[in-house]
Amino acid sequence: MTTLQLTFIIFVALIAQLAIFAAMAFYRQWQSFAELKRRLAEWEGPRTEKLPQEGTPPPPIKPLWPEFREFKVQRKVLEDKNGTICSFYLIPVDGKSLPAFKPGQYLTFQLDLTDPDTHSSKSLVRCYSLSDEPHSEYYRVTIKKVPTGQASNFFHEKVQVGDILKVKAPAGHFYLDTAGTGPVVLIGSGIGITPVLGMLNASLHQAPQREIWLYYGVRNGEEMIMKEHLDKLAQQHNNLHLYLCYSQPQAPEVKGVDYQHSGRIDITLLRLTLPLKPHHFYVCGPKLMMEMLVPDLSAWGVPEHHIHYESFGPASLTKHETSRSALGEEATIAAELTVTFSKSGPTFPWKKAATSLLEFAEDHGIAIASGCRAGSCGTCMTPLESGEVEYHQRPDTDLKPGNCLLCISVPKTSLTLKA
Ligand SMILES: Cc1cc2nc3c(=O)[nH]c(=O)nc-3n(C[C@H](O)[C@H](O)[C@H](O)COP(=O)(O)OP(=O)(O)OC[C@H]3O[C@@H](n4cnc5c(N)ncnc54)[C@H](O)[C@@H]3O)c2cc1C
Ligand code: FES
Repeated sequence: MTTLQLTFIIFVALIAQLAIFAAMAFYRQWQSFAELKRRLAEWEGPRTEKLPQEGTPPPPIKPLWPEFREFKVQRKVLEDKNGTICSFYLIPVDGKSLPAFKPGQYLTFQLDLTDPDTHSSKSLVRCYSLSDEPHSEYYRVTIKKVPTGQASNFFHEKVQVGDILKVKAPAGHFYLDTAGTGPVVLIGSGIGITPVLGMLNASLHQAPQREIWLYYGVRNGEEMIMKEHLDKLAQQHNNLHLYLCYSQPQAPEVKGVDYQHSGRIDITLLRLTLPLKPHHFYVCGPKLMMEMLVPDLSAWGVPEHHIHYESFGPASLTKHETSRSALGEEATIAAELTVTFSKSGPTFPWKKAATSLLEFAEDHGIAIASGCRAGSCGTCMTPLESGEVEYHQRPDTDLKPGNCLLCISVPKTSLTLKA
């Protein structure tokens, strides 16, 4: 055999080996992909939010109790080192046991405040997430004091142990399906940790073996709440993976001891740390984080119904917003619609960029009373004189005939609102 022949045989053998390796690697990848698809189909839990069919007025969800119920503040607990986050433990004045809620839901409060300028009394409606798992004796909410915020400052400064508050039944579509068994990723940033804490506590209690990843983002330890509780849970449950993410850690804080990740929670962190599994993601945090993370999860390939989120406050991100912008045809129709505010007078062309009629009215200087901005409190309910609206989600309040909730609806046809 010549040297050339031998070289050729070695070359062919090498190529054959490489081809075998490549085929094996491809087969393994294909197998894990098939397995992932199989588990996805198996673990597919029910969606937490079912959008109503277009054109059908969504029936309201029956609340656990009608209207407002009185609760006494049993305990006030400061949670963070800065003293800006406080938990309120609430017990029902009627002494009856409390119905279980879905972890992630919120309470709606009607507060009677005195206006500091006019000294007249006024009523304010606000929502606060239930920050613990369901208990039959008490509910807990955890409130951050925001600068010049009326309700949050009222809670921190004025509400005392023994005070009575008017509270609507738990509501909301952002909740964990505790009957599910698939892995979940809970993401809470800043005060957005509150609904996620409720989900975590409920899940570890009701399904102690379920795999949970918790990413909790704060600037540093000064802003953290319930760290001891979280560390204890992580020690007790091997299936809980805790990621405390500090965006501005302070000098004595040590990575790996006090926190796990320096930086904000983003898709890169999730991709680097999460195993390839069909997780359900539950995200709550500031608008900026949500605007980045939610589309990034979709772009990563997470199915839409595995992404659940809630944003506190007016600028909430809605599923509707995403799906509408994808519909060029609908956008063209929307451009031709008009909204008339009959009490104030003017008619405006509907702006397809507006996420709700409430936001649209405010953009045009029409004052509409609002509270939860999430379809729960009923404050923005407005008589609809003509036309039809389309809802992002089902109202959690009794919708009076001939009225609509401006905070969760957009026009379906041109409208006249009595506002
Ligand atoms: C479903 C849901 C769940 C929630 N859960 C929680 C929770 O668990 N914990 C929590 O702390 N919060 C939660 N929130 C947010 C909460 O409902 C309130 O929005 C929050 O406490 C602020 O209300 P406020 O009355 O104190 O502030 P507001 O008086 O409504 O003011 C809000 C912000 O606007 C600014 N502002 C007010 N007036 C003006 C003005 N004239 N010019 C410029 N800026 C102004 C204030 O400085 C403040 O930063 C939740 C919200 C929703 C919708
Ligand atoms: S503001 Fe609460 S239902 Fe619209």
